[in-house]
Amino acid sequence: MPQKISIIGAGYVGLTSGVCLASLGHQVICVDKDKDKLGQLEKAIIPIYEPGLAELLKEHQTNISFTDDLAEAVKQSDVIFIAVGTPSLANGDVDLSFFEQAVVEAARNMQGYKVIVDKSTVPVGAGDWVKNEIKKYFFGEFSVVSNPEFLREGTAIKDFLRPDRVVIGCDNNDTRAKNIMSDIYCAIDCPKFITDLKSAEMIKYASNSFLAAKISFINEIANICEKTGANVGEVAQGMGLDSRIGPKFLQAGIGFGGSCFPKDVAGLISIAQKNNYSPLILQAVMAVNESQRDLFAEKIIGLLQKNNGKTAALWGLAFKPETDDIRHSPAVDIIKKLLTAGFNVQAYDPAAMDNMKAIFPSGQVKFCDTALQAVEKADVLALVTDWLEFSQTDFSKVKSAMRLPIIIDGRNFLDPIVLRNLGFDYFGIGRTDF
Ligand code: UGA
Repeated sequence: MPQKISIIGAGYVGLTSGVCLASLGHQVICVDKDKDKLGQLEKAIIPIYEPGLAELLKEHQTNISFTDDLAEAVKQSDVIFIAVGTPSLANGDVDLSFFEQAVVEAARNMQGYKVIVDKSTVPVGAGDWVKNEIKKYFFGEFSVVSNPEFLREGTAIKDFLRPDRVVIGCDNNDTRAKNIMSDIYCAIDCPKFITDLKSAEMIKYASNSFLAAKISFINEIANICEKTGANVGEVAQGMGLDSRIGPKFLQAGIGFGGSCFPKDVAGLISIAQKNNYSPLILQAVMAVNESQRDLFAEKIIGLLQKNNGKTAALWGLAFKPETDDIRHSPAVDIIKKLLTAGFNVQAYDPAAMDNMKAIFPSGQVKFCDTALQAVEKADVLALVTDWLEFSQTDFSKVKSAMRLPIIIDGRNFLDPIVLRNLGFDYFGIGRTDF
């Protein structure tokens, strides 16, 4: 049965969830404070870079509306998803101010039974806080559910509509909420894992931290491979064939970025410490990740110094391909290190240039219109983000444009044999076998 759903927060998770839930036939109201954003969304213009989202919105526009009137949205809905940002504070703690504000505003406007669904990533125990907070403003019956989201930027629609699992956390005896949540996701064919509130909240942190740990682990192995002559690509492939390990998230490179892994690993460290536990593995996951981008920047600087070079070309600024997101992107730290060491940086990214221009304004970095323009007279080309476009570039043109034919590939993305045959000096991560 179609449900009446409000989604508070039209950011990455909120907007994708809203559009996807509308595509499943539910009646969705997306609430956000940003009037410019709402104006764009009403015209089916998506303010984020997410392949396919604008098309899906256009297709299901009749099932979704956008407003800044939270009170009215709550009144008109039976299910309220909270999908506001929960960024990191400087000390790694989770900033719950947007979340708390959304809960209080929703609670103030509740008139009958509602299910409050938490989709934001919040510390374990937040669901209990939500229950207590709502009781201050509303004296009727209501349910609180934790429904963490596992979608990735760039593949958000597929991840939402065809996920590995849907996790639903609520009180064991809350059959009403369980039935409504099952209804919402009934068209999605995957295991629905129903558990208690706190475990659902922890599943989100533990999943992101485990994936981040896989990345830091393979990056550490890559660094040892470089010292010993093994090839990390071969090692990851050989490891991944063990079904207990699996092949995914074993791509060595310059580490993870984005708005989720760094924030959530830091968040879980802070949750553990507040509970008097010292999370040694999580701390190491972060430390390896930070040093991985430093090591890469040092390698670029080393290559420039060895060859009397002055200019590095950077291909890719986004934290991963198919997004314009540069939050915690390795590119930011790499550019800072290169500039501090006195080198010139020429950069190109298919989607993230405007965002990066806001961090490195006027003349600090030369932002170029094409990948080929970025390598013009460069001494080293550093590949930072594995956009498909880069592997499809004509490398004979790249070689003619560069002052020196040196490539350092931070994602082991390019073909070393092809590049060597073209006369490039190629350096990857965790591989020295060419
Ligand atoms: C991540 C999770 O994968 C999602 O399940 C989760 O919903 C989301 O966080 C979130 O909490 O909102 P996302 O940050 O969009 O999604 O990106 P990923 O595709 O997971 O990549 C994260 C980073 O890891 C990227 O910088 C990527 O380049 C890096 N990575 C990934 C590697 O370095 N190696 C790999 O093998 C895989």
